[in-house]
Amino acid sequence: MNAPFTTYGVDGGVGLTALLVAAARAIETHRHDSLAQDEYAEHFVRAAPACAGWPVRIEQVPDGEHNPLWGRFARYFGLRTRVLDDFVLRSAGTGVRQVVLLGAGLDTRAFRLDLPSDCVVHEIDRAGVLAFKEQILTEAAAVPRVKRVLVPVDLRADWVTALTSAGFDPSAPSVWLAEGLLFYLPAPAETYLIDTVHRLTTGGSALAFEAKLEKDLLAYRDSAIYTATREQIGIDLLDLFHRDPRPDSAGALAARGWSTSTHTPFDFTRLLGRGPLPERNDALEGNRWVFAHKPHEPRP
Ligand SMILES: C[S@@+](CC[C@H](N)C(=O)[O-])C[C@H]1O[C@@H](n2cnc3c(N)ncnc32)[C@H](O)[C@@H]1O
Repeated sequence: MNAPFTTYGVDGGVGLTALLVAAARAIETHRHDSLAQDEYAEHFVRAAPACAGWPVRIEQVPDGEHNPLWGRFARYFGLRTRVLDDFVLRSAGTGVRQVVLLGAGLDTRAFRLDLPSDCVVHEIDRAGVLAFKEQILTEAAAVPRVKRVLVPVDLRADWVTALTSAGFDPSAPSVWLAEGLLFYLPAPAETYLIDTVHRLTTGGSALAFEAKLEKDLLAYRDSAIYTATREQIGIDLLDLFHRDPRPDSAGALAARGWSTSTHTPFDFTRLLGRGPLPERNDALEGNRWVFAHKPHEPRP
């Protein structure tokens, strides 16, 4: 039995979104045609009082896959998890040994992925979120496959010192993920994040991030996904998204010589044969997944 968890972090605000993604991963894990496996996800959901009554299997949802939150939206998170798992593994396959998870939340890639044993995974999130994560993983006797470094810091502050003091080596290649993060940050924090990733990376490094098209950020308030998330579990995602106009982060990287490619999630649904497809009044329509690579030699 887990002790009640009282530290601020996952029990409200943007921290609660980490539990939403964990619940989605738990459901994905148990699907017969699962896109990604995360055996730890349901431990987080079961332990957090904020998730009382949340499902960890689609069979526990009365309308099953037809439920906009636990069906379609959860599948979206399952797809995103798989695509970014593949991205990290591909980078490791090119020799990258440092992984940085920005807004890591309850990401358990250090435990799940078959990474080379000399990899180091740096997990950046707010202290309360990381403290909850540690408590639950410790209780589950989870053992990471690679070295893990926790970096409790707020990404709206100067987080570079925290990361480099924790042992991150800017002179070696790295792969970075900002999965479900940027739209929660003020625009200057996103600009700083992109500048910093550029500054702390060598050629051969890579970054993947999720963005939302500007015009869509606050649209779709009455879409099935946002409505279900609000009504079923009380999370108003649109209230949590930052209202600043978003910077063009893919453009900023391209201007510095990175190669970038931008995809819709639906591209990967088609590629992998399962996942969400477009629908009317679709909150996922403006979501973009950006994959950026820093070339080995500076371009002339
Ligand atoms: C939707 S969750 C995604 C978590 C994780 N990347 C995943 O996909 O499972 C967003 C995460 O970003 C973190 N986050 C949001 N704003 C942050 C900030 N200013 N500093 C650090 N972390 C932040 C939250 O605490 C939360 O864990």
